[in-house]
Amino acid sequence: MSAHSPDPFAISARGPLRGTVTVPGDKSISHRSLMFAGLAVGESRIEGLLEGEDVLATAAAMRAMGAQIERGTDGIWTVAGVGVGALLQPQTALEMGNSGTSTRLLMGLIASHPITATFTGDASLSKRPMGRVIDPLSAMGAEFTSSPGGRLPLTMRGLCPAVPIDYTLPVASAQVKSAVLLAGLNTPGITRVIEPVPTRDHSERMLRGFGADLTVEESAQGRIIAIRGEAELSPQQIAVPGDPSSAAFWMVAASIVPGSDIVIANVGMNPTRTGLITALKMMGADIVEQDARTVGGEPVADLRVRHAPLSAIEVPPHLAPTMIDEYPVLFVAAAFAQGRSVARGAEELRVKESDRIAAMVAALAPNGVRLEEFEDGLAITGSGGDPMPGGAPIVSNLDHRIAMSMAVAGLGARDAVTIDDVSPVATSYPGFFPTLDRLTDRQP
Ligand code: S3P
Repeated sequence: MSAHSPDPFAISARGPLRGTVTVPGDKSISHRSLMFAGLAVGESRIEGLLEGEDVLATAAAMRAMGAQIERGTDGIWTVAGVGVGALLQPQTALEMGNSGTSTRLLMGLIASHPITATFTGDASLSKRPMGRVIDPLSAMGAEFTSSPGGRLPLTMRGLCPAVPIDYTLPVASAQVKSAVLLAGLNTPGITRVIEPVPTRDHSERMLRGFGADLTVEESAQGRIIAIRGEAELSPQQIAVPGDPSSAAFWMVAASIVPGSDIVIANVGMNPTRTGLITALKMMGADIVEQDARTVGGEPVADLRVRHAPLSAIEVPPHLAPTMIDEYPVLFVAAAFAQGRSVARGAEELRVKESDRIAAMVAALAPNGVRLEEFEDGLAITGSGGDPMPGGAPIVSNLDHRIAMSMAVAGLGARDAVTIDDVSPVATSYPGFFPTLDRLTDRQP
């Protein structure tokens, strides 16, 4: 991503979305599949892996530390793991591109291995705070030399054996939780993470599936997740469900464009990820779950979404961790709703791939949307279903979700919204634009 050439894109209203779309594999689960399989002894198979740049950065890093990872011509990935405790010293810096999840989770893995590793990333990732993982991993014995403010480039040295800790998460972050649990995998004794606010639980579900001794207990302080270290993981067959964070764009697009009627197939419905569906339904969206089932230990359903008039809501702050990546596109939905929506308690948006509160204000305001910015969120006065005026250029800030959210906003714009660079979309949803063309009947 570092030397990429910008890819501009202009979009205005194109009429309804129709048809069926299968979204790519869940990004969080894809990263974890490669990491956990890379630590198992024996060969795992992964079906439905997201082949976006972020996940490929994880694959490259795990290869650099000894895992054998291959993609079959049938699209199935095989991973021969090295075993917990046996990661090898990488010979060059680990290039993380745009991916915060790769960086923070791999820092956790390395913290309890006798390895020195350097992490580098693109301009967006190099601005993101790593102190939130450096703190607990330092308490476990790892050493760090980072760029000012706890940022990348960063070099760390793991400690083996590391020291188990009990750690209460100061921010609601599944990445921080997972980093500590992954460090705990190769640490003698029991490492505990106390989570006052529940966040996505893919690490817990999957580590158990791989045979780790991991328990989850509800307590007055929150969820206590305990992992017994020096674990042995056994290889698995993994089916990665579709990413609800990618499905989010189609849910909002179909909701705001009159005449739309789509089915989004195979969407992960883990309750720690479905906050956007809850919020959109509160706004009056017509989203129907069909064929609810379980795939690879995760709940999955097909979603039928039809256009519906939306009404403004106060987004319940407790939903934030379950829809944290979906706020940008929720803001787009609010821009077409009747009335003033308010979303607060979402200050974490400021430290994502971009400052997503500032980025969405900068993108929506010149296109005719009335907004009020708060430190921890936004108020948006919607059009009541009328088209957004549009006509203004916007910047995606190396942030895939800003680019895709504004492409969705463009579907409701009278004059074209011009996005300066949509190339970051390849980090999480390489097929986004061809799918947009197909759903809007623009297939060549
Ligand atoms: C992720 C956790 C979330 C999310 C990110 C993926 C994960 O980040 O925003 O896209 O896979 O654990 P935080 O842990 O910073 O909330």
